[in-house]
Amino acid sequence: YVLGIDLGTSSLKGLLMNKSGKVVAFAGADYSLLHPKKGYSEQNGEEWIKACETVFSKLIEKVSDFQKELEGIAISGQMHGLVTLDEKYNTVRPAILWNDTRTTAQCAEIMEDFGERLIEITKNKALEGFTLPKILWMKEEEPGLWEKTAHIMLPKDYLIFRLTGELATDYSDAAGTLLLDVAAKKWSDEILEKYGIDAKILPKLYNSIDCVGKVSPEYREKFGFEKEIKVMGGGADNACAAVGSGITVSGLGMVSIGTSGVFLSYEEEAHSHYKGQLHLFNHGIPDAYYSMGVTLAAGHSLNWFKETFAPNESFEELLSDIHSIPAGSDGLLFAPYIVGERTPYADSKVRGSFTRIDTTHTRSHFARAVLEGITFSLRDSKELMAGLTGRKFDKILSVGGGSKNKEWLQIQADIFDTEIITLTTEQGPGLGAAMMAAVGLGWFNNLNECAGTFVHYKSAALPKSENVRKYNEVYESYRKIYEATKDL
Ligand code: XUL
Repeated sequence: YVLGIDLGTSSLKGLLMNKSGKVVAFAGADYSLLHPKKGYSEQNGEEWIKACETVFSKLIEKVSDFQKELEGIAISGQMHGLVTLDEKYNTVRPAILWNDTRTTAQCAEIMEDFGERLIEITKNKALEGFTLPKILWMKEEEPGLWEKTAHIMLPKDYLIFRLTGELATDYSDAAGTLLLDVAAKKWSDEILEKYGIDAKILPKLYNSIDCVGKVSPEYREKFGFEKEIKVMGGGADNACAAVGSGITVSGLGMVSIGTSGVFLSYEEEAHSHYKGQLHLFNHGIPDAYYSMGVTLAAGHSLNWFKETFAPNESFEELLSDIHSIPAGSDGLLFAPYIVGERTPYADSKVRGSFTRIDTTHTRSHFARAVLEGITFSLRDSKELMAGLTGRKFDKILSVGGGSKNKEWLQIQADIFDTEIITLTTEQGPGLGAAMMAAVGLGWFNNLNECAGTFVHYKSAALPKSENVRKYNEVYESYRKIYEATKDL
């Protein structure tokens, strides 16, 4: 068996797969976020370890030969988070996560220092979520703690470290730090030097499919694992989701709606002409890349809406009537900027809104408007990609929570004006990670070949021309909300 672990923002999930690409079992464990101040988002690394151990225990209960047959693990991780360890490998402070927005001043400082050069090296602009601004924040605001820091890493790398004792990361996750020379695939001396960051504190770089170490004897004993278990490099959650969705060749677009939402495309080479307007990161496939735009609060917006206005209902109940509301929600508009917005505005200060509220609007209008607003925000990324690259997609693959609701899939087909396909067995980033483990063990020659066995699609929704026309109109109005509300 291979185990793909998805170390997410709100839970850790384990997906156990066999050689024929069948899901053997699935288990998860939740954890919480810490918000010690407005805009802060942190997590204790120990929570990830506990959750991983819970998942091991659950799998032992579910699968009789799990301990006997597990041979490989790879981890998909929430991106960008800063984990700091001291000389004795104890955590210095809670990890600062990708959705933490305390670093606006540090981002401005980095852009001032480097400007276009930053985009040449890292292919990205400095944004609050990324790791380097978090390091600068720590140096400025918590110098005593920074002083103690002997090792830094990304969230999934901390789990790799605890499982194997190795300090390792992979290119796709390293690309989200703003410390990697993305095309050269090495830590950037120029950036490290500028900010006085010693290369010694950084983990070693690997491909996602490379073996970085083996599960330690202590862990094998604790959980009764019989075989030697190889741990592969794994990857950033978006890279893993792309691999697990078969985005291993050009031509297919992917929209993934989880806590955040992304619009993503495969890229054959690293080039700079996205000017940092879209992210460009190393893929989980050696020497390939992907570009993407991000909606910071995608599923998060829907979750917030439910928790605030329908806390005692399920998502199914909340959304049960949206099919009876016409496309465009009878004029009601929602902008999902409830924690700021990444693409295309890179603005951590703007906030969300409902506009054009009318006396005829019901709660179902609001619920539908939330889904439409999230999808419009992802269309912003798709339009930007089309404008910058001329790329068109004849199909878009929808994954994540956003692909679970039939009506929302139709909304996606209509707003993107493209056929939407879904995976027959959708397992998200965990599947991509499992595939990395499978290739790392030599079960397949490469990830593309593995996708042939592990990834299968079905058609989910075709655009309806009437709705496409309506949404094109409504999108024009949606586009005006940002300018109209950003200074309020
Ligand atoms: C990507 C990003 C998010 C996180 C979520 O740049 O910040 O999609 O990866 O885990």
